[in-house]
Amino acid sequence: MARTQVGIVGAGPAGLVLAHLLAEHGIQSVVLEKYSRAYIEKRVRAGLLEHRTVELLRSHGLGERMLREGLAHRGTDLRFGGARHRIPYTDLYGGREMLVYAQQELVADLVRLRLAAGGDIVFEAEEVALHGLDSESPRITYRAAGEARELECDFVAGCDGFHGVSRPSVPAGVLTTYEQRLPFGWVGILAAVPPSTHEIIYALHARGFAGHMLRTSEISRFYLQCDADDVIENWPDDRIWEELRTRLATNDGWTLKEGPIIEKNITEMRSFVIEPMRYGRLYIAGDAAHIVPPTGAKGMNLAISDARVLAAALADWYQSGDDSGLEAYSETCLRRVWRVQEFSNWMSWMIHCLPDDLPDVAYRRRLQLAQLEYVARSAAAGASFAENYVGIEDV
Ligand code: PHB
Repeated sequence: MARTQVGIVGAGPAGLVLAHLLAEHGIQSVVLEKYSRAYIEKRVRAGLLEHRTVELLRSHGLGERMLREGLAHRGTDLRFGGARHRIPYTDLYGGREMLVYAQQELVADLVRLRLAAGGDIVFEAEEVALHGLDSESPRITYRAAGEARELECDFVAGCDGFHGVSRPSVPAGVLTTYEQRLPFGWVGILAAVPPSTHEIIYALHARGFAGHMLRTSEISRFYLQCDADDVIENWPDDRIWEELRTRLATNDGWTLKEGPIIEKNITEMRSFVIEPMRYGRLYIAGDAAHIVPPTGAKGMNLAISDARVLAAALADWYQSGDDSGLEAYSETCLRRVWRVQEFSNWMSWMIHCLPDDLPDVAYRRRLQLAQLEYVARSAAAGASFAENYVGIEDV
């Protein structure tokens, strides 16, 4: 049987950052990933990094390409009532910038750097199962390259996403689940078209939310609010462009560049948290433990934040036997998780068109406008938005 110190399930941002940070402390790990390297390096996700995420990656030597190719940002464009309102979040939060850089590019960087450093990542690891999580030597069984394998560890890090095996490996009754489905969905597209904006646009229109997000000088990302149970077959390309044109329009003649759509899908708007984020020697991180709706692009940032907390706690344990960080892991992470849940939920309700069947919907739509006006015009409200959006330092 093979042995390592930390068995990491999942080569997403949480698992890969954890493997890198552990290696800096001389702690061995093996990362087991269900999909192929090519698949995870292409999978489209959000692309907006908080200031503290960028700083973490940069300070650990993981951000060289990200800093070269990513685009620094200092504000966002909030549109409602046909007018634009710029929120200068960098000025409102101590000069901290954000970075536009696609998640799959970061994953590709983290994989390449990990392998170059001699790190062990097993791709296409099938039938992963966790055993003995409440013992001092948990084991992971899996199949790879056509053979059954077993890995004995000191700890298991469950970084395998919402649909992964880690969370369901915890016995029934241990975890408390908090969940909410928002009554909207997002149609997301990638288009081979230069951006029509310098800054990310969030637009509320009577026909629903529209977002113009950024990728590169040739590729742009867009989102459109749709029904919670909508299907992509309802969204032919010409309907998508028509809705984007209508919903993003301003009364000062702004125009949208259009081009070929290279990818489209529907994202559900789900909020989900488990407590605690730990069972025995299994520590759960990222989407395996919590989901936020895509509004505000917090998912990857939160996953990397969990990895940072877990790496520090494991380093203390290996260096001095100090288990206080591990004991506090769940509580420490959950403070930020709930801050981000609240922000993502708040922002979601602020920028989506409320469904007609919501109780008191006429009243709530007026409240929503009052909220948008407040965020757009008050420095205090803008600063509150800014610290959450840019990535709050202390929770
Ligand atoms: C994205 O880059 O896909 C993105 C950016 C900002 C958001 C959501 C998604 O609020």
